[in-house]
Amino acid sequence: MPIIHVIHPDGSTREIDAAEGTSLMQVITSAGEAGIVAECGGSAMCATCHVYVDESWVDRLAAPLANELEMLECTATERTSCSRLSCQIRISTALDGLRVRLPERQQ
Ligand code: FES
Repeated sequence: MPIIHVIHPDGSTREIDAAEGTSLMQVITSAGEAGIVAECGGSAMCATCHVYVDESWVDRLAAPLANELEMLECTATERTSCSRLSCQIRISTALDGLRVRLPERQQ
């Protein structure tokens, strides 16, 4: 099972087992981690599941679709080249070791 490293704004890190086929948003919220709101439930319509993907992983993820890119304009904290919507990242074995940082806030 892929392991995902989630880094909180205070620097604390949690390693989470991630089921293949689920979204990164589901992995983080199901693990009981604070920091993801996911108001729209994963439909790429709220931007409250924003994460910063570790730079070394950005090019290893499937590229964001147009609706994700559009919604990334609405993040509560600064959008960077590492910004993604966690609901649009599908977990696979290729993502074992993925590191993502949670923003200070989602709203
Ligand atoms: S959960 Fe709403 S955009 Fe990801």
